[in-house]
Amino acid sequence: MKIGILTSGGDCAGLNAVMQGFVKTITLSNSKVEIYGIANGYGGLISGEYKVLKPEEFYDILKLGGTILGTSRQSYKKIIQKNENDKAARMKENYKKMGLDVLIILGGQGTHKTAAFLASEGLNIIALPKTIDNDVFGTDFTFGFHTAVSVATECIDRVETTAASHGRIMLVEIMGNKVGWLALYAGIASSADVILIPEIPYNIESVINAAKLAKKQKGYCIIVAAEGAIDKEDALFAQKNRMQKRIENIKMTASNKIAKAIEEKLGVETRVTVPGYIQRGGSPNAYDRVICMQMGSFAAELAKGRKYGVTVALNNGKMTYNSLASIAGKAKSVSLNHEMIRMAKDTGISFGE
Ligand code: F6P
Repeated sequence: MKIGILTSGGDCAGLNAVMQGFVKTITLSNSKVEIYGIANGYGGLISGEYKVLKPEEFYDILKLGGTILGTSRQSYKKIIQKNENDKAARMKENYKKMGLDVLIILGGQGTHKTAAFLASEGLNIIALPKTIDNDVFGTDFTFGFHTAVSVATECIDRVETTAASHGRIMLVEIMGNKVGWLALYAGIASSADVILIPEIPYNIESVINAAKLAKKQKGYCIIVAAEGAIDKEDALFAQKNRMQKRIENIKMTASNKIAKAIEEKLGVETRVTVPGYIQRGGSPNAYDRVICMQMGSFAAELAKGRKYGVTVALNNGKMTYNSLASIAGKAKSVSLNHEMIRMAKDTGISFGE
């Protein structure tokens, strides 16, 4: 059996752990398996950058951050474009050249869209849901998410002690451009006063009032804002125009805009901290290590059963799968009546509404 593996899109903790779970399960029960490691995600599948790797190269990488295969972002639109540079055709050609029985794809929402396309073009695909954003449809959690929550929470906790020392208002910008799962979980875990996420457009006056209240009650305030947090006015613009506006105001991110408005209105020192890529780097935490091994091993069982055109999912604590066609192009965002939102509101957290 010939198996290709690639990791695609923004990295996260746990990519290597999933590959260890997959390769160990498939190779320990079948010595005739050949593993092709494809470099830099779909980029390597397009350019033909791949090589046969020894199974042992995957056997002890569970704790390693990043991805031993490398990754890249490849636009879905460009992949399906029919022109002289036909990327989809080159991907299919390289799949054939390797003589693959199945291609294992580790990636997030965008990656799944391309995976579904390749499956519809006749390639045997099994995907796995990664990303710190937790926005892949049809799975309770993506791997990498819980590690990012732990890292973001620790960053916010550290910011909190200095906020308390100085009596400041501190805003921590957490990754998540389109969805706010990470900011929501890390905000709750760090007992933030205000959480701002893209799904709930904020009103700057409400944010200022919440900050004023926290400052009065405990002497400082912690605001956790997703990088894609958006005010009610901007939310009226179409997504495309919002992106354009953001590019034009590159020096004034949402977090800086909010901090400036608070400082001007309340006259309290307000600082911004951006943990950025720290949230994606490093070793997976214990929870992720376990679900990564489970997901990787489950994908191997799917491969053994020749169950293709699917992606692994976690449903109420159990491993399962969804068809790629059923989840492609859909994002799992935070619904306004999600129990986490209700609980956060019930416990006094403001969403700046
Ligand atoms: O997909 C994960 C993510 O970290 C998002 O939270 C963030 O908006 C984006 O990737 C950053 O992308 P890049 O790695 O291309 O800067």
